[in-house]
Amino acid sequence: MSTYTATDQRKVTTRRLMEMKERGERIAMLTAYDYSMAKLVDEAGMDVILVGDSASNVMVGNPTTLPMTLDQMIYHAKSVTNGVKRALVVCDMPFGTYQGNSKEALASAVRIMKESGAEAVKIEGGSEIVESIERILCAGIPVMGHLGLTPQSINKFGTYNVRAREEAEANKLLEDAKLLERTGCFALVLEKIPADLAARVAQEVKIPVIGIGAGGGVDGQVLVIHDMLGINQGFSPRFLRRYADLATVMTDALGNYINDVKTRDFPNEKEQY
Ligand code: KIV
Repeated sequence: MSTYTATDQRKVTTRRLMEMKERGERIAMLTAYDYSMAKLVDEAGMDVILVGDSASNVMVGNPTTLPMTLDQMIYHAKSVTNGVKRALVVCDMPFGTYQGNSKEALASAVRIMKESGAEAVKIEGGSEIVESIERILCAGIPVMGHLGLTPQSINKFGTYNVRAREEAEANKLLEDAKLLERTGCFALVLEKIPADLAARVAQEVKIPVIGIGAGGGVDGQVLVIHDMLGINQGFSPRFLRRYADLATVMTDALGNYINDVKTRDFPNEKEQY
């Protein structure tokens, strides 16, 4: 039994997220990558489901998000939309499908929308990728921005440490946030930046700002489902709150199953035809 019931059962849209920000209601966002998980997440009352390219880490086992392809993202996003009725489904555009060539960016976004049924795309970066965002928006595709720690740029950053601690980077982030708002992004993810800076961004732009490791002064929060459910045990940053220890629950269940098979306890008479 879920402990939360959404008061508004209507389909979540980009417009509803804006209304939530206006009335000060926090936005709950979580990743999902497959049908069964997405169905549970949606039925729990999540506002936004992100088909993140973190699938590369938690579904495929890659050390970075860079290897993810457009076909793989579409496969995951289609699996998610098949299970979702209420939440807004946003799909990450993978590395290499939108930077530097706005026509390619539009073609990639169109494929995601047509083939997966996702309702928006998310793109990492600021002024460098504005041309791509403009072209995607021209086709009527909603775009969520992503600033701060942008994991697709890990090879440029060199570490997954907190971003924008220095004044110059913080100023650029603030300018980029305003630019993305002016360009027409419907929302913004801020990843792993100082809480004061994130709160300032959320105050200075009208679009919803969703944080991950960005403190409580923003308009909503997002986590990776494998991390918050404790399936992925090897990742414990300070910002992560674990809501379950599914690794232990699953390991116990798997051990019990193996034991029952080995000891011939399973199946019993009632479990056969
Ligand atoms: O890929 C992802 O899961 C993300 C979130 C961490 C925001 O981009």
